[in-house]
Amino acid sequence: MLLGVNIDHVATLRNARGESDPDVFEAAKVCLAAGADSITTHLREDRRHIKDNDVALIKNNLNCKLNLEMAVTDEMQNIALNLLPDACCIVPEKRQEVTTEGGLDVFSQKDKVKHFIKPLLDKNIKVSLFIDPDINQVEAAFYTGAKFIELHTGAYSLAFGKNNEEQEFQKLKTSAIYAQNLGLTVNAGHGLNYINVYRMHEIPNLNELNIGHSIISKSIFTGLDSAVKDMLKLINKN
Ligand code: PXP
Repeated sequence: MLLGVNIDHVATLRNARGESDPDVFEAAKVCLAAGADSITTHLREDRRHIKDNDVALIKNNLNCKLNLEMAVTDEMQNIALNLLPDACCIVPEKRQEVTTEGGLDVFSQKDKVKHFIKPLLDKNIKVSLFIDPDINQVEAAFYTGAKFIELHTGAYSLAFGKNNEEQEFQKLKTSAIYAQNLGLTVNAGHGLNYINVYRMHEIPNLNELNIGHSIISKSIFTGLDSAVKDMLKLINKN
């Protein structure tokens, strides 16, 4: 499995002071040097963490795969079409939420999403739809023409170690297999950490995990290089 490191929280810390430390660009470099396969950033409408300049610096100065998480808005579509990141992950966005709380509801806006991603696909950007592990959402994602989905692992992560862990895990596994049978490439992310990530090996052929909070949290104690390497050991072991 590939690892995309989400560095939004480096920017959250930087923005707490409104100055330049910790340096988001340096953080991206350290993650890549430690072996991360890509850098993931969520450019939110309110720019609460990652800012336009961060994504531009990473895209233009690092020879890496940049995965831009973004909402279904004209502004974000324009940014992506100018920036041309390797990948775009389309996420829902509500201004008040602390983090991305649920998957994008593609099922109820299939044509809107299809229309929205078409110019991105035309530019050869790998478009992934961040959806809940639900067959209706998987089918809707397939309908849009996206070739990738990212399954929202938040419910599994919250259920981990509790009575409903198996139920939430099976939703992920079933949805992943269903999507793969349709020809979609399946990524996963949200809430994954050094303890719960091991079950991702039970899902066949997962392509990439996007992990942020747990890695950046651990880096406070161990440094970012070790935090990334420790996660890589967990997701690359067979
Ligand atoms: N994938 C997507 C689409 C997300 O929105 C997020 C959170 O920004 C993540 C992965 C990473 O989640 P976490 O920070 O909980 O690892």
